[in-house]
Parts: sequence; C-alpha cells; structure tokens
Amino acid sequence: MTSLDTPDGGLSCEVGSPEQARAFSAVNAAFGSLGRICMALDGDFRIRYASELLETLLGPEAAAQLVGLSVESLLGSELFGLDGPLRQALLAGEKREGWRAVLHVAHGPARLVSVSAAPLIRDRLGVCDPAALYLVVVRPEDESGVEEGGPVAGFGLIARSPAMTRVFRMIDVLQHSESTVLVTGESGTGKEVMARTIHAHSPRKSGPFVAVNAAALPGELLESELFGHVRGAFTGAVRDRAGRFEAAEDGTLFLDEVGDVPLHLQVKLLRVLQEHTYERVGDSQTRRTNARIIAATNRNLRRLVTDGRFREDLYYRLRVFPIELPPLRSRREDIEPMTRLLLARVGSRTGRALRLSPEAVRVLLSYDWPGNVRELENALEFAATVCRGQTLQPEDLPPEIAPASALLAPEESEPAPARTRPVASSLPTEDHELRSALDRNRWNRVETARSLGVSRSTLWRRMRAARLT
Ligand SMILES: Nc1ncnc2c1ncn2[C@@H]1O[C@H](COP(=O)(O)OP(=O)(O)OP(=O)(O)O)[C@@H](O)[C@H]1O
Ligand SMILES: [Mg+2]
Repeated sequence: MTSLDTPDGGLSCEVGSPEQARAFSAVNAAFGSLGRICMALDGDFRIRYASELLETLLGPEAAAQLVGLSVESLLGSELFGLDGPLRQALLAGEKREGWRAVLHVAHGPARLVSVSAAPLIRDRLGVCDPAALYLVVVRPEDESGVEEGGPVAGFGLIARSPAMTRVFRMIDVLQHSESTVLVTGESGTGKEVMARTIHAHSPRKSGPFVAVNAAALPGELLESELFGHVRGAFTGAVRDRAGRFEAAEDGTLFLDEVGDVPLHLQVKLLRVLQEHTYERVGDSQTRRTNARIIAATNRNLRRLVTDGRFREDLYYRLRVFPIELPPLRSRREDIEPMTRLLLARVGSRTGRALRLSPEAVRVLLSYDWPGNVRELENALEFAATVCRGQTLQPEDLPPEIAPASALLAPEESEPAPARTRPVASSLPTEDHELRSALDRNRWNRVETARSLGVSRSTLWRRMRAARLT
C-alpha cells in the first residue's frame, strides 16, 4: 500500500491514479468549505482516502496514517463493527445521517463528532476510483450542540438522550483518573457495562477487572471472598486462599450490589478505602492493596444510611465520583438506536438481518421497561426467535410488551402514550372484542383468525396475552 501526496496537498490517497486522487480532492474541497471532513472507504470498510482536514482533529500526519486502516478503528465498532448499524446500512445500500461518535486517538483527547455515511454513486464521467464504495462525512461536534441530534456511539455503548450523553462525558473525564466511582441505577440499566467501560478506559486498562457480587454471598463468605483467608480460619478452610482484593492488584475491583454488604464488613471496606489495608480472615498480618474500587447498587444508599443500614462515612467514601444511570423509561430517545444496535447483535448471533417495522418501534416506545436495557435485549432475542419474516412486527414481541390491546389497536402515526402497566386499562374492551369474535366462531381458531384478518399464530398470541388460552 503506497501513500500518494498530491501537489495541492488536499488529501491523502492510498492507491488509485492521480486522476482519481484529484477527483477525491475536489469532493473534499467542496465538503471542506462546509466544515465537513470526508473519507472514502473500500468494500472492506478500510479508509481509502481521508481528507487532510482530519488533521485539525487528530494532529499532523493523521490523514496519511489512517489510509488502509479500518474505519472501525477510528469511529468505533458500535457504528462500524460487523454488526454496527452504519456498516449494516451501507451494506444494504442505505445512507445514515447525523449519528455521533466519540473519536478516539492515541495521546489525544476524545472528540465528539457527527457522522453521516452513504454508498457512493458512480459518477457519470467515470473519473472516481471504482474501489471507493462508501463515503463517510465527519463533522466536529460543537460541544454546545451536543444535547440534540442523533445517537451517540462510543465506549462500546450507544445513546441519544442528553442524560446518557452526559454519562459518556463522565467516562471521558474519568479516563485519567483512579477515583472511586459509585454507579447507581435500577436493575438492567447497564451498571456493570458502565463499570467495565470505565475500567477499559482507565490508566489500569491492562490490569484485571475483578467483579464481586455482595448480594450473592452471605456475610462470612463475602468477607473471605474479598479479603481471603488462612488455613483453619473456619470449617472448610483447608488451605490459605487469596481474596479478590489481591486478584485485583493493579486493576479494578467491581463491588456489585454494595448496598447489600453487611454492617460489620462495611467497617473493613471503609478501612480499605481510607488506608488501603486489610487482613485475610483468621490472619494477623496486614496486607496492602492498590485496587481501584468501582461500586454499584440498585438500592437507594441514602435511604439505607437514614435507616442505619449503611454507614454514612462509607457512603461518602464510595461516592467520590457518582454516576447515576437513568431508567430507560426516562430516556426514551435511547430506545430506538439501542434497539437497532441490539437487534444487529442478536441478528449476528443468529445469522439473521432483521428489520424493524414502524409499528414494532411504536410498541417498543410506548412500553415502560421496568427491566430496562436487559429487558429490551431479552425481548429482542425472543422476537428474533419468533419472527418468521425479515421484518420484526409487534406480534413477534413478548405478550407483556405487545399485549392484545396494542396488536388490535388501529394504526397510529404518533407513539402511543406510555403505559405504566404492561396491560393497559383499555384491555378489557379489546379482550371483549377478541372474546366475542371467538364466540361468534364457536372458538374455532381458524375461523376466528380468518374473521379478524390475522394469522393463526397472531390470534394465538393475542389469546395468550389476553389469557384466553
Ligand atoms: N448503553 C448501552 N448500550 C448497549 N447495551 C447496553 C447499554 N446499557 C446496558 N446494556 C446491556 O444491557 C444489559 C444489562 O446491563 P448490565 O448487566 O450492565 O445492567 P445492571 O445495571 O448491572 O443490571 P443489574 O442491576 O440487574 O445487575 C447488558 O447485556 C448490557 O450489555
Ligand atoms: Mg449488575
């Protein structure tokens, strides 16, 4: 692979003739005058041409160095990985506009950029390089405008809401820090992925990430799990054993469900946080640890403090850097981009490329998601298994998400108002209609389905949702 410097210095070019390079230079100049930076990709999603304007973001020589690299390494796998939504769109011959990515470069600050991508249309004169198949246009994001627009991808996560964009900024801020972090949020909001992400972007990224779930073990076992024990310390302690703090040396200890740590252990934990010292169970030798602590809980620690079940001093020691993950229902803007990402993930596992029908999006947007992102992920996995065609329909979703009422509802262009309970109050009427259709057809399913104009499997799902089976 050779790099070609053109006389006008307007671009870097991998192969291709000087004429082709000039053609890209012209495209580049046109976009450049609008403050946009261009890249052309080949069929393997490698950067074939990159505008030198990229150097305003990435530093000198950056454009030439990028040529031949995968676009994924520059703009992240969430967008351009094998199942990334932008790669998928380009492969399907579609364009995508206004997505945002956190651009990562070695030794430089992370930058938020706006990304659009489209398949390149062949030019009439045939001067453009035929190996350049896709165009990617990047625009540095004006920090003040960050709170609006398309989804943001970065750190292996995806989001569109202002709340999650702020969380992304915090991960960015923490990149050079080893502070203790407390991640709070309802079940399934992504506390563990957040903890892993913070670790993976911290100065300790090459060290271990060790997770301990405080809710999964009774007090005595938890103590020995965390700090280790010596032989004979308790029945069954047949040999000396190192604890998780030792395993997390030079890395991060993820203390999950920290709200469940019993009071007597909270004292020991406080000491680790203050003095970095502890003893193995049954041992008198004091040990030191340098593990960084990231704690998480779905409980309200403040309330536990008020109730006397969580030490106040430990609470403040843990929340040096608090990150609160909002529930999915209070950041509905994230539902659609997250669905597309998760569906692509599920699709690549099951070898299927599924699309989303607008009705399915409507149902997903109107559900309350008590189980948050995990519930969304599970619902999509279920739907991908049930779905027979290429487009996911509401009736493919689990019944609690798309109950009979939603399936029978007339087409609506606007998202339905949020349901606080999966089974909405309108259900009795819908149930009633379903039941009378069944009665009219003497509960013959084939005939009922025909009279309602739905398939037998749809009817069966509606009956199940309405508890009529
Ligand atoms: N922003 C996100 N982008 C993509 N996937 C996400 C995001 N947030 C969460 N997930 C996915 O949702 C699932 C649940 O996340 P995670 O296990 O981190 O939640 P949690 O808050 O620790 O839940 P719990 O309190 O039940 O332990 C995971 O499969 C994770 O990959
Ligand atoms: Mg968890």
